[in-house]
Amino acid sequence: MNILVTGGTGYVGSHTCVELLNKNHSVIIVDNLINSKIETIDKIIQITNKNISFYQIDVTDEYALDQIFINHKIDGVIHFAGLKAVGESVELPLTYYYNNLVSTMILSKLCLKYNVNKFVFSSSATVYGDNKVPFVEDMDLLPTTNPYGETKAMSERILLDVAKANPNFSVSLLRYFNPVGAHESGLIGEAPNGIPNNLLPYVTQVAKGKLKQLRVFGNDYDTVDGTGVRDYIHVVDLAEGHVKAIEKLTEGVKIYNLGTGKGTSVLQLVQAFEKANNIKVPYEIVNRRPGDIASFYADASKAERELGWKAKKSILDMCKDAWRFEKNYKDK
Ligand code: WQD
Repeated sequence: MNILVTGGTGYVGSHTCVELLNKNHSVIIVDNLINSKIETIDKIIQITNKNISFYQIDVTDEYALDQIFINHKIDGVIHFAGLKAVGESVELPLTYYYNNLVSTMILSKLCLKYNVNKFVFSSSATVYGDNKVPFVEDMDLLPTTNPYGETKAMSERILLDVAKANPNFSVSLLRYFNPVGAHESGLIGEAPNGIPNNLLPYVTQVAKGKLKQLRVFGNDYDTVDGTGVRDYIHVVDLAEGHVKAIEKLTEGVKIYNLGTGKGTSVLQLVQAFEKANNIKVPYEIVNRRPGDIASFYADASKAERELGWKAKKSILDMCKDAWRFEKNYKDK
C-alpha cells in the first residue's frame, strides 16, 4: 500500500516508516521538522535501502497537504504529527489545541475528499487519565492532567464521529504506553530537543556525561519501590504494531493498547540500564513531578488477539538499543 505518514521523521514515525518499507509498502512522509531532523530521511533510506517521498509541510496547511493527495495515490494514512511535550502543553494550551486538533481535522477532511479510507492515529495511554490498572480499551476515560493529553482524547473523539458519519472511513486508534529504545542500527532513535522530559533519554544523557545525574521524581508512591511505574515498550515493537494495524484495518473503528502489559519502576529501569550497559547512572531522589500518576500499564491482550501483534523486546533490549543510539548520536 501507499501510506502517507505525517510526522514521519519523528521518533515513532521514523521507526514505523522503516517497518513499513521492510514490509514492501511505499511511504510518503510529510513533516514540518519542528521536532525532528531532515537527516532522518537519509537514515531511513540507509537502513532499508528503499526510497521514500518527503515533503516539508505543516499538517495544518490544508492547501499544501491537498497537493500531496492530488499528486499521490494514497491507500492509508498514519498520523503521528503533533506537539507532545506534556509540560509545554500546560504553558501553551492554544498552540497545542490548534496544532494537534486542526491537523487531525484537516487530514481526515482530505481523506474523505480523496476517498482514503484507512486512518491510523497515534494516540496515547494518557487518555485513560488516573484510571485503575491495567488500562483496558473499553474502560471509561477520565480527564487527563494536561492539554497534550486532552488533544489526544479530543482527536480520538473527532475521528470516532467522522467514522460514524462516513461508514467507509475506517479508523484505528493506537494508545501507546511509554515508547523507549532505538533501531538496532543506532542510526535513528529518540533525540529530544533540549533537556529530555522523558526518563530513558535523560538516563542516556547522564550515562554519556551530558547531564550530571538523574532526578528521580519521588519515591513515596504506593509501588514496588516507591518510584513511578510505567509500561515501557520498545519503539520497534511499537512500529510493528502500526504496520499490523494499517494492514488489518478494513472497516469501523478499532482501539488498541500498544504496550507490553508489564510495569517497570524508575529504579528498576535504572538498574536494568546499568546491567545492560555495564555503566553507573548517578541519581538523587527529589520531589514528585506535578501531574505524574503512580503507576500505569496496559492490558495488551486485544492487540494480540485481533492484530496478531505482541511486544517481544525486553527492558534490557530497550536499554542496550537506547544507549547505542545515544553513543552514536551527534547532536550538532
Ligand atoms: C516516566 C517515569 C516519572 C523523568 C509521558 C507522556 C506520555 C508519553 C510518554 C508522549 C515517571 C519518572 C521521568 C525524569 C523521573 N509522551 N521520571 N525523572 O510521564 O509516563 O509519559 O511521556 O506520547 O504521553 O505523558 O513518561 O518518561 O516522563 O516518566 O523520575 O527525569 O519516570 O516521574 O514515573 P510519562 P516519563
